Amino acid sequence: MIREPKNKVVIIGTGYVGSTTAFTLMHSGLVSEMILIDKNKDKAEGEVMDLNHCLSFVKPMSIRVGNYSDCIDADIIIIAAGPSIKPGETRLDLADRNSKLIESIMKKITAYTYEPIIIIATNPVDILTYVAAKSVNYNKNKVIGSGTVLDSSRFRYLISKHCNIDTRNVHGYIIGEHGDSEVAVWSRTNIAGMNIDKYCERCNDTCGLKDKNRIFEEVRDAGYEILKRKDATYYGVSLAIRRITEAILRNENSILTVSSLLTGEYNLYDVSLSVPSIVNSNGIDKILEIPLSKRESELLKKSAKKLQDIIRKINY
Ligand code: LAC
Repeated sequence: MIREPKNKVVIIGTGYVGSTTAFTLMHSGLVSEMILIDKNKDKAEGEVMDLNHCLSFVKPMSIRVGNYSDCIDADIIIIAAGPSIKPGETRLDLADRNSKLIESIMKKITAYTYEPIIIIATNPVDILTYVAAKSVNYNKNKVIGSGTVLDSSRFRYLISKHCNIDTRNVHGYIIGEHGDSEVAVWSRTNIAGMNIDKYCERCNDTCGLKDKNRIFEEVRDAGYEILKRKDATYYGVSLAIRRITEAILRNENSILTVSSLLTGEYNLYDVSLSVPSIVNSNGIDKILEIPLSKRESELLKKSAKKLQDIIRKINY
């Protein structure tokens, strides 16, 4: 970021994810000015009214309905527009419809500016991160998909629940597609600096691979399981977006499994997916190539191929 951040955030799409993200960012104290944009103006106005009534409870900030010209001096633009999956659908089923939507939104943004960092939350987030960068030739380091930041949090939570350890003390990553082909990096998962297998040796319980598979499947299918019980998921992804926003606005150099366009990392090209990356005021400052097991590398390559096939199928 070549100028002092104004802590101005534009949110495009005020559905479940966009409105919950606005509420979450309001609580965070990170944002001074928030602009909500939605094709349904009444919806955006209703959300702004509801949020403004909270201002006596939080730090001062301004929230209003805006339009694409408000992107000009925004630090971050969060795109949460478009339909989410319905029970029985996969995130990739939305690729064709939502890629066209993202391209049209990116064209409206770039009619004014190429400066802000773009956070994509709409699914399929990896495909749309690719489309957002490529369709208007946006700086790929400034297009960040929420990716598997939420999946890595689910992974850490489920392990912490199984091992009865504070979630904050379990470290591990889910990488690849934010979806069915995602990969659990068990080889790097650790508690108290011990690889999870070493930790298990010292633990009294005698769980083994079956539990690892169960935990991974619960992470991978979490979105679907929630959707079976309520209309959409929004708390987890909005806190993931908040965490990414915080790393950008506070220039934190945080390592997060965000989705971005790979140009040779992990020997992968021309695809967007999640791997541990350093996030700061520049956006994606560095993609980290962490050592993976042979199996994990194979699964990551498979995940990339699945996404590349979809990208070709929707003609990007
Ligand atoms: C989920 C949505 C954000 O996994 O894809 O909850």
